[in-house]
Amino acid sequence: MLGGGVLERTVPILTHERDTGGYFRLAVRAPDITPLVQPGQFAHVRILPLKSALLRRPFSIFQVAGETFSILYKAVGQGTEVLSRMRPGEELNVIAPLGRGFTVPRAGDSRPLLVAGGYGMAALYLLAQRAPEKGIVFVGGRRRQDILCVDEFRALGWEVRITTEDGSLGEPGLVTQPLVEELRRESAGRKLFACGPTGMLRAVGRIAEERGMAAELSMDEHMCCGVGVCLTCVIPVKTSAGWEYQRTCMEGPVFDARQVVWETDP
Ligand SMILES: Cc1cc2nc3c(=O)[nH]c(=O)nc-3n(C[C@H](O)[C@H](O)[C@H](O)COP(=O)(O)OP(=O)(O)OC[C@H]3O[C@@H](n4cnc5c(N)ncnc54)[C@H](O)[C@@H]3O)c2cc1C
Ligand code: FES
Repeated sequence: MLGGGVLERTVPILTHERDTGGYFRLAVRAPDITPLVQPGQFAHVRILPLKSALLRRPFSIFQVAGETFSILYKAVGQGTEVLSRMRPGEELNVIAPLGRGFTVPRAGDSRPLLVAGGYGMAALYLLAQRAPEKGIVFVGGRRRQDILCVDEFRALGWEVRITTEDGSLGEPGLVTQPLVEELRRESAGRKLFACGPTGMLRAVGRIAEERGMAAELSMDEHMCCGVGVCLTCVIPVKTSAGWEYQRTCMEGPVFDARQVVWETDP
């Protein structure tokens, strides 16, 4: 069932720490998975102590270091609550790396622009690390506790522009405001990469379309099998022949913004 370059492994938790705003960072040792990971790919995680453990949960692969990879997740429901109580030494079963990730810019491309909301920072970190040109990451959240990983992106040499809806950190407002200001200054030849809530992705897609810019969006859909079989995760995608359903776990989660059909599209 698993395609080439995808492995299923039972792996030990090495570290597990609480971050800001209900988020946790969890690292596992998975030496044969880490060399395969591309930015924007995800791990499908079976939380073994969970009663309904058969159902996996998808998480972006956040950081990769030697034999370990980590995820950055928010405890939102049953699965992530149980996960948040697991300790180093306990084991998870993972299928990874999954999905089609971001296209890593090439040397000489103009400075990339990343746009993240919430755990979108997790999906974008490896892209920022592997991009030869350091660009700008626009990060937004409701309040300061939702703003993650700023120091880590700065340590990679990226400029970070923060917005919060309640104004408790950075500029008050939506993450798209400073993005639009930056694009007024210069948009030709630049490319957007985004991960976050659907409303944010749609706004970024529209901003790119209005300016004729390229953009890649990581689409967050509910997933069941994670390996292309159950079709829980399909979204409509434009093709040369019209449109067709594609699986966010296989053909995505990253799609060219020009291909995405939004619910209110005619
Ligand atoms: C490709 C991909 C990458 C992801 N990466 C991350 C990540 O890096 N960090 C992170 O914290 N989360 C990530 N998620 C979301 C994560 O998978 C869900 O939060 C998790 O499955 C919830 O499991 P649960 O059992 O705790 O919650 P459930 O009890 O299943 O659900 C609790 C609440 O979360 C909502 N929810 C569940 N799944 C999703 C989803 N896919 N998108 C939006 N809302 C959802 C439910 O509607 C419900 O309101 C990702 C999802 C996808 C598809
Ligand atoms: S989650 Fe089963 S096909 Fe994508």
